[in-house]
Amino acid sequence: MSSERTPPEPESFGDPPQPEEIDLSKIHGSILREHDEPAEGRESVPLWLVTIMMALVFWGGMYLAFYSGGFRAESFNPRRGMAGGAVDSNDPATLGRRVFTQNCVLCHQATGLGVPGVYPPLAGSEWVLGRDWRGDNHLVAILLNGLQGPVRVGGAAFDNAMPGWSILRDEEIAAVLNYIRTAWGNTAPPIPVEFVRQRRGLTAARAAPWSAGELQAIARESAPAPAPQPADELPFRRKAAR
Ligand code: HEC
Repeated sequence: MSSERTPPEPESFGDPPQPEEIDLSKIHGSILREHDEPAEGRESVPLWLVTIMMALVFWGGMYLAFYSGGFRAESFNPRRGMAGGAVDSNDPATLGRRVFTQNCVLCHQATGLGVPGVYPPLAGSEWVLGRDWRGDNHLVAILLNGLQGPVRVGGAAFDNAMPGWSILRDEEIAAVLNYIRTAWGNTAPPIPVEFVRQRRGLTAARAAPWSAGELQAIARESAPAPAPQPADELPFRRKAAR
């Protein structure tokens, strides 16, 4: 189409112009004049980009320094003490509070008072303290398999459901039970890990949560009192002392 603009040569009248006769620079001249000449070589990286990159590298370094845990495998141990060894990580009291905060506080509340009409209280609860016909075996059974249906706690009626906590290890169940038995003014003897392990074995076949009536039909049992141990003889202390 650009060939139409070229004035035809009188000699080549009627013939299309030969390629060598077309002055390409003349045709494209106007177009070329409107554009910048392409720059040669490499452009230097803009300063703002360098600054952002340096800032990102710096941030990455700081992030690793603070959160890598020194690349030690034990930094992924959930029971590792948070206060750099000052708090013993295997301390059952610390573990019990942590298990409660992670699994129970949502319903039973940090005050242990629950939510009226919905979640029963643990503070002053006859189920937790083992009053009347309720024994340690009933409390452990509630933790392992859950509780559902109408139930009375501290004189108030509830009709809800709690799933079992069998995903928790025996040590965690014993620790959280000892926590709820000593928090908020509760006073009841601790339940040894061995007792939890034994109850888990006895109720392994059961999956459904208990009803209050089913539990009442089971005779009350108390966990054997743990053998008294001087504080320095506890396994976690011995480990820490090394
Ligand atoms: C999703 C809410 C929820 C969570 C989380 C929960 N519970 Fe419960 N819990 C309930 C409900 C609801 C009942 C009463 C069930 C019923 O009405 O039959 C109950 C009952 C109990 C009881 C017997 C009644 C009483 O109040 O003393 C104990 C003990 C108990 N829970 C302990 C725990 C512990 C320990 C944990 C954490 C490991 C926990 N619960 C986590 C909702 C929950």
